[in-house]
Amino acid sequence: MFGVNEVTAQLAPYPAETLRKLRLQLEGEGRRVYDLSTGDPRIPVWSAIQDKVRNSLPDISQYPSVLGSARLREAHAAYLLQRFGVRAGDNLTLLPTAGSKEAIFHIPLSLIQRKGQDRILFPTPGYPIYRDGILFAGGIPTPMPLRHEEGFLQQPWNLPPEIVRDTVAIWINYPNNPTGTCATPAYFARIVEWAQAHNVVILSDECYVDIYDGALPESQRPPSMLQLTQKGVIAFYSLSKRSGLTGYRAGFMAGDPAILGPHTQARARFGVAQPDFVQEGAIVAWEDDAHVAARRVIFSHRVRWMGAALLEMGIQTQIPEATFYLWGKVPAAYSEDDVRFCRELAEKGGVLFSPSSWLGGGGPGWFRIACTLDDRESREALDILQGFCG
Ligand SMILES: Cc1ncc(COP(=O)(O)O)c(C=O)c1O
Repeated sequence: MFGVNEVTAQLAPYPAETLRKLRLQLEGEGRRVYDLSTGDPRIPVWSAIQDKVRNSLPDISQYPSVLGSARLREAHAAYLLQRFGVRAGDNLTLLPTAGSKEAIFHIPLSLIQRKGQDRILFPTPGYPIYRDGILFAGGIPTPMPLRHEEGFLQQPWNLPPEIVRDTVAIWINYPNNPTGTCATPAYFARIVEWAQAHNVVILSDECYVDIYDGALPESQRPPSMLQLTQKGVIAFYSLSKRSGLTGYRAGFMAGDPAILGPHTQARARFGVAQPDFVQEGAIVAWEDDAHVAARRVIFSHRVRWMGAALLEMGIQTQIPEATFYLWGKVPAAYSEDDVRFCRELAEKGGVLFSPSSWLGGGGPGWFRIACTLDDRESREALDILQGFCG
């Protein structure tokens, strides 16, 4: 008999795919759809990146290497130095990735030592791949709810000792998807202190670190965990949100050579850097901040006015200092049933949001708006929401 293993057999449908199906179904019915569900804003790619990729298409196609080109690694190093004052070298290994999703999925393969016993902590609601990667690697995915009353900040110091004893790593994601929360260097310092005391690796997903309110003074921009320490830390970066290159699949990992050194050998089995022509475009993207600043202006404007519109409608939310997400409380009439709220809004109004339950079990009763559409379309979507709630 053919079959699949227990982990694959028990997977729930992937949220983004469920939402995509819902969108296609509504579009198939000839309905106008406002898709504010997925973190994939429709903004043209900066032309210099497009040109570089176009001009780098080779006549003969060759495999990319696991390390990527020296120029790409230089661009990663220059970015870390310029943005965070962090210097790559003997204490910091860099490894290119094909976006961060596959890197996030694969890292537990190198960290889980005792299958069925080692735990990796992850935030919920959150990016679903944290949990799935841990499961496939044979670890115990251990969710940490992000609570409104705790400012949506993970508090590992409150975990019972028997959980901490079996924990080998913790996922941290600030600026946070989906809540939009930013962490301070002081909070990161507390995480580092706790992790080092318990021999826990910090996996810091920093893919939104450059999508912040452009008006913030430099000292208040979202920090990197690598600024606190590089020991026992692996940070994940991506051009998907920074440069709007979701379809190009370009990112990198940076962290402790004691982990990333051996992990490079592992990656040579299952992963490679981006295709060479994408690497060329990625170099342009990592070396420039002006095109990112232009994106920041767009997103800060959107989260500000859309957040204010939600508040005016009586929907509990806060205007985030980073990311392009708004995290709203489901209206009381839905008594915390975020899936029903989002489904009815989609079916009756054609407006797609992500219900918190599809982003993990930690925060029922919330929904996420990804500010992906232009002002006119977003206004129309919010008018529909208002009519729906009113
Ligand atoms: C928190 C978080 N991490 C990682 C990713 C993966 O991004 P990519 O694989 O496009 O780099 C996403 C995508 O939405 C995300 O929201």
